[in-house]
Amino acid sequence: MWSGGTIEVQPCEEPTNSRMNMLHYVYYHVFDKRHYLADFNEENLPKRVLDIGCGTGIWIHDVAKQWAAIGHKDVEFIGIDLVPIQTPMVKWSSRLC
Ligand SMILES: C[S@@+](CC[C@H](N)C(=O)[O-])C[C@H]1O[C@@H](n2cnc3c(N)ncnc32)[C@H](O)[C@@H]1O
Repeated sequence: MWSGGTIEVQPCEEPTNSRMNMLHYVYYHVFDKRHYLADFNEENLPKRVLDIGCGTGIWIHDVAKQWAAIGHKDVEFIGIDLVPIQTPMVKWSSRLC
C-alpha cells in the first residue's frame, strides 16, 4: 500500500487479515453491493482475472462464488501479494465447481 512516500507492507497476522476482510465488505456495501464497477453483463464476464495485492484473497473468493452461482465457472483467477496470507482454498484453486 502506498503511504506518503513509503511502501507499507501489512503485517501477516490475524487482526490485520480480519480487518482487511471486514474492509472488503465495507466497500461492498458502500458500492451498492457490487464487487467491481466494470460494466460487465452476464454474457461477457471475463475468463481471466488478475488481482494485484489480493490480501487474503477474499475478493477473488466472493467474485468466483458470485459468478459460479450464475453459471460462469470456467474462470482463471490469479491473485498475487507481497505477503502469503491467502486462505488455503483460494491458494490452491479458485475454480468453484
Ligand atoms: C489494503 S490491503 C487490500 C487487500 C485486498 N485487495 C482486499 O481488498 O482485501 C493491500 C494489499 O496489497 C499488498 N501489496 C502492497 N504492495 C504490493 C505490491 N507491490 N505487490 C503486491 N502486493 C502488494 C499488501 O501486502 C496488502 O495485502
